[in-house]
Order: sequence, then C-alpha cells, then structure tokens
Amino acid sequence: MKTNFIVDEVKKVGSEVELFGWAETVRDHKKVIFIDLRDRSGVVQLVGNESLRGISCEDVLYIKGLVKKRPDHMINQKIPTGEVEVEVKEFKILSKSEGLPIPIDTDGYEIDEEIRLQYRYLDLRRKRMLSNLIIRHKAIKFIRDFLNERDFLEIETPILTKTTPEGARDFIVPSRLQKGSFYALPQSPQQYKQLLMVAGIERYFQIARCFRDEDPRADRAYGEFTQLDLEMSFVTQEDILVLTEELFTKLVKEIFPNKKMTKSPWPRLSHSQAQEKYQSDKPDLRQDKKDKDELAFVWVIDYPLFTEQSESDYFHGSGKAKYAPSHHMFTAPHPDDIGLLDTSPEKVRGLQHDLVLNGFEVGGGSIRIHDSKIQEKIFELIGFSDAQKGQFNHMLTAFKYGVPPHGGIAPGIDRFLMSVLSESSVRELIPFPASSGGKTAVMQAPSLASPNQLDELGIKIVK
Ligand code: AMO
Repeated sequence: MKTNFIVDEVKKVGSEVELFGWAETVRDHKKVIFIDLRDRSGVVQLVGNESLRGISCEDVLYIKGLVKKRPDHMINQKIPTGEVEVEVKEFKILSKSEGLPIPIDTDGYEIDEEIRLQYRYLDLRRKRMLSNLIIRHKAIKFIRDFLNERDFLEIETPILTKTTPEGARDFIVPSRLQKGSFYALPQSPQQYKQLLMVAGIERYFQIARCFRDEDPRADRAYGEFTQLDLEMSFVTQEDILVLTEELFTKLVKEIFPNKKMTKSPWPRLSHSQAQEKYQSDKPDLRQDKKDKDELAFVWVIDYPLFTEQSESDYFHGSGKAKYAPSHHMFTAPHPDDIGLLDTSPEKVRGLQHDLVLNGFEVGGGSIRIHDSKIQEKIFELIGFSDAQKGQFNHMLTAFKYGVPPHGGIAPGIDRFLMSVLSESSVRELIPFPASSGGKTAVMQAPSLASPNQLDELGIKIVK
C-alpha cells in the first residue's frame, strides 16, 4: 500500500523512497530524463537515465529512488518539493495512458464544458478542480464539527418520496410494486425535517441532496445540488440568524483566511428596504466589486408571505388562485399579521430569511407554521384542491400530536462556495454535474429503459 503522499515522502534528503503517481511531464535531455511525478499532494522531480524513455505523460508509475538535494541553480522555490529531486533506482509502469482528449495543465475554462464533463475524471485532475474538491471537503467537515459541538444530530432522509415542492418541477420515479404510481425525488428535505421536529429531535442537520427539474443557470445546477439543511425546535428567527452567522463567519476565517468580510455583524435589510434601495432582493453590497477577496453577507428578512401566482406556479393550485408562497407553503406568517390573512393576504409578512452573499441568494429558510389550522388556511389561499391538500395530510396529521415551534434554514453548499471562490458556475464545485442539456457527467444519463423494465413497470412509451 502507498503509505505517504509524495510531498511528505520526499522531505528527507538521503532517504530511499517508494513513490506512486502519474507522470505529469516528461523532459528528455538524451542522457538524462526528467519526469514530474504527480499525486494528490503535488509533484516531485524524478531524474533517471535512458531506461525511463518508455514513459509518457499520464502513465501511472511505481518508483523506487533516492531523495537528493538539487544543485543550487536547479532549485525551484515555486513548489514545496523544489529543493529536492528523486534519483530513480527502479521503476514500473503500472498503467499506460493514451494522449489525453483535453489538456489538464490549464485552468480549463477555455475548454468546451460538454467535453470537460464527458471526461470529468480527467478534468478533475487539473489543479483548480482538485483544489475545489478539497475546499468543499474542508467546508463540509467544518460544518459537521461546528454543528456537532452544538448538539445537532445528522440524520438522513429518504430520496424516494412524495412531492416536496420548492418551486421547481419534480423528478418522478415509477413504482414496480404499485404500477401507475410514482415516487418523487425531494426538492429539499423540508417536510422530513419538520417531521423530525415533531419526533423530538430538536436540532437536526443534513448535508442533503436536493432534486429539481429546472432550467440551469450559472448559479443553479440542473437536476441535483447539495444543501446544508438544518432545523431547530423552540427557536426564534433571531436564533437561526445568529447561529448561521456564527457558523459561516468562523468557516470563512478558518478555510478562507485571505477573504475579508465587508461588514460583521452582517447587515440586515427588510425585503422592502432591499427593493427600494437596491431594486433587488439579493443586493451585492461589496464595496469593490472587482476585489475577489471581499465577502458581503447580508440578511434579507420580512418578505411578503405571498407573491402573486403566475402560470409557472404549476405546483400548487389550479393556476387560478391569486397567491403563491414567496418562500414555501410551510413558512409562518408574522404573528402581528395573522389577522390580515382573512382580509388582505398580500400585506402579510412571512418569517422568512434569505442569506445573500455578493449578490447571490446562498441560503433561505423560515420559522414554520406549527398550527394545522393556519397551514390549512395557507393551502386554501394558494388554491389547493382537496386532492392537493390530501398530498400533505401526513403533515396535518403529525401536527395533531404535539408539534414544537420550529424553524431552520438551508444554505446551498455549491452556490455558497461558488460565490466565495468567484467561480464561474456552481458546476465548478460539483464533482459530477449534469450539463446544461441535462445529461449527467461521464455516464450521459438519462438513457432508454429496456422493454423488460418498462413491462415490469407497466409503462408504455408514446412516441
Ligand atoms: P430554497 O429553495 O430557497 O429553500 O433553497 C435553499 C438554497 O439552496 C440553494 N439552491 C440551489 N443551488 C444550486 N442549484 C440549484 N438548482 C439550487 N436551488 C436552490 C440556494 C438556495 O438559497 N427547504 C427550503 C429551506 C428552508 O426553508 O429551510 C429550501 O430548499 O443556495
């Protein structure tokens, strides 16, 4: 087994080492051949004689060699192993590589994205993509540790489930055991996390995959993306804002020490202030928008509970109701505005909070309705038919048995990291994203089902 990464293994001049990795570059100087051997940790220069001539770029190598100090004029200060080289004593080519279909020694932005995604396993070899994966890992680890210290439980919720509308189309999965019926993939774990509050969990989080069939954009992945989903019982909106702000402030300090926050504590704007002052509910409050290291977080609160329903609000109502939820249908109305639900619903504020970073909405959440009468009222206002209400009976039933006041938030991991790193799209942070045409990376799903599979599901394809 490989026990050490290259960069650690070659620290001691004079030691005999065994190395495993890829030949990143091969420079043939006739009598001496130089190879940069790469693994996840970095590269080291190998030097050897003509016996290395059969090695080509991206071949996978086993090397036995001697760590030597480089002559002074050969020292490369730019890399951590720049003061040494490894004289090759023995080597083995573990696997040959053909010439790569895409270059991997650039940042990759110049390459057609479809081709990068087709060969994502090569695309991920480039430094920038590896670094993004490492940052993502560190951010998630930080979040887990932070929440664990504060008594949150990490709990998984189902992927095969019923519709949980968040404003996009559902992905549906046919059932074999109940022909003609379909599961929906969750657009978020919203209902399950509320049910976990009914179950008495009190503090829940999940690094949760969410599925939404909506048109992709730079800040919106097609198909699936990841949220830090969290929920707490017996809290106020203030508690949620304070916890989230502490989490992300500490995360930035630890993982992005070079980034400067424009303001701390983060400013808060009401929805109407944001609209009046910035004509946007996700204003970019950076002082210098050209500065890549500036992070301007801002809370936007006091949203109207409803927006006017449009054609695209296909997920609720018959399309004939006047109102659609501005966040989602489980968001609690502001307690001072409850009376207005009957008279002027458009004036009701919701206990919704959106987290905005450099002009991107990186998180959204709310205090939830925990009174089934108010929940039913909301269903009516958004034009739910009895059948549609029936889809959410389990929530109304659960709320009969002692439901704690609760609320939460769900920052998008991909979008948060995209905006901190000023990346060009969320797909730069997702290991295997779908393309803009909806094809998955490398595997190019969706694909046809076999006639047998369709038969078992009782499905006929209409051409
Ligand atoms: P919402 O729908 O606002 O709230 O989503 C929360 C956050 O998820 C991220 N996000 C996305 N990221 C990448 N690609 C997408 N297609 C995409 N869609 C959303 C954004 C967004 O701010 N259940 C509620 C949360 C709650 O009320 O607790 C929810 O999902 O960063």
